[in-house]
Amino acid sequence: MTTDTAAQAAYVVAALLFILSLAGLSQHRTSRSGVVWGIAGMVVALAATVGLASRSISATGLVLIAVATAVGAGIGLWRAKVVEMTGMPELIAIMHSLVGLAATFVGWNGYLDVDAELSGSLLGIHHAEVFIGVFIGAVTFTGSVVAYLKLSARIASRPLTLPGKHVLNIGALVAFVGLTIAFVARPTMGLLIAVTVIALALGAHLVASIGGGDMPVVVSMLNSYSGWAAAASGFLLSNNLLIVTGALVGSSGAYLSYIMCKAMNRSFISVIAGGFGTPAAASDEGEQGEHREISAEETAELLRDASSVIITPGYGMAVAQAQYPVAELARKLRDRGVEVRFGIHPVAGRLPGHMNVLLAEANVPYDIVLEMDEINDDFAATSVVLVIGANDTVNPAATDNPSSPIAGMPVLHVWEAANVVVFKRSMAAGYAGVQNPLFFRENTQMLFGDAKQRVEDILRGLDALDTPVREMAGSSR
Ligand code: TAP
Repeated sequence: MTTDTAAQAAYVVAALLFILSLAGLSQHRTSRSGVVWGIAGMVVALAATVGLASRSISATGLVLIAVATAVGAGIGLWRAKVVEMTGMPELIAIMHSLVGLAATFVGWNGYLDVDAELSGSLLGIHHAEVFIGVFIGAVTFTGSVVAYLKLSARIASRPLTLPGKHVLNIGALVAFVGLTIAFVARPTMGLLIAVTVIALALGAHLVASIGGGDMPVVVSMLNSYSGWAAAASGFLLSNNLLIVTGALVGSSGAYLSYIMCKAMNRSFISVIAGGFGTPAAASDEGEQGEHREISAEETAELLRDASSVIITPGYGMAVAQAQYPVAELARKLRDRGVEVRFGIHPVAGRLPGHMNVLLAEANVPYDIVLEMDEINDDFAATSVVLVIGANDTVNPAATDNPSSPIAGMPVLHVWEAANVVVFKRSMAAGYAGVQNPLFFRENTQMLFGDAKQRVEDILRGLDALDTPVREMAGSSR
């Protein structure tokens, strides 16, 4: 078997491993094995690619590749080890930016180093690949950098609204089409520089125009773009595996974005077009009446008397790392015969599945963790809802205030329960920057402070409530 045949066979194996990986990652029960399949696929892919390259690269070149791989793997391992779960979206965004940058460089290299055997229409196709690859790569690069800056709160998350912003976006696309035709007819460095600059500006503008509430969709959209950028590089490098892998990432990212748009009642087209058609942010900030407070001890009493409890966690649970005491609270209440379930909003936290991962980490049984659609009809018959560090995902304004920036986003109907206790540190707004009328409802009480400490206080409160019962039982014997 020649090196080429062996490498192509390895590529097929790697592609199958990537498909298994995607299948595994689609459910949290199988996600660990999905990650293992992905690592195995990447090892096979790297080994086959270096094996192929070894035919035409000097020993020094191979050493350089080994050093670059070791440095890259080292940085990747270090970042993955130190990143907090709350910092994952930023990490993902910055990784997408690297894919975009690499695709831009591959495109430029394809222009500077044209295969001498190419001629006629094949040369034209090559130049189209260069141009499209550079365009997608540069849009992905700056779009991901702006997403990183927004997600890490280094710049404001509110949408940038330049005058005529849609004309600017459409103008950039029209210019891209025109420049592509000109480049295929007569490739010049000036045209390639022009498309690179336009694409860099377009990527930054598209993501800057999108408001905080839509950022989850943007992250998965950029994931999709990075896949298409990799596929474009695959065409330029004549690497079948890169084409297949890029297409897998591109299409799965696009599908995830579509699912998230449906979950948030956002138009898929409007989000990828930089917020086209989204309502302007209404100024409904500020307090909307009186709120009532409750102590941890009073919450413990409320829970002691409850027959059913639903816990709806959000980003604040992740910040406070409250999942362990929350899991302990659920266990304790279930031991007392209280029906306890968790209601998970599709975009609770800062990345898809964020809450599920945290609850699984704290060994909360899967069967009491329900999706929003599975639990939304049950709130009305529930004694107590504990909203732990969630805000936008439980905001009734999404259902009853058409001028709210999050109008139309499906939310958890927590306010239908008999009692709602909201755990947060202040009256501050959530991620989307809008005030939450839930906090001012008659059946809502605020439990201020760090979520982890407050849940631990409730656990102590429940123990204290139990003590006299046991003592009484002891004295009556
Ligand atoms: P948010 O609306 O972000 O609200 C989190 C709440 O937690 C805040 O009101 C904050 O109030 C509270 N909090 C923060 N630290 C806390 C602590 N240590 N202890 C107690 N409370 C604490 O969260 P959500 O309801 O989960 O909604 C998610 C939002 O993020 C949505 O707008 C969504 O679109 C967006 N987003 C989601 C994703 C994905 S894919 N899930 C990705 C990016 C963005 P205080 O500051 O007053 O404590």
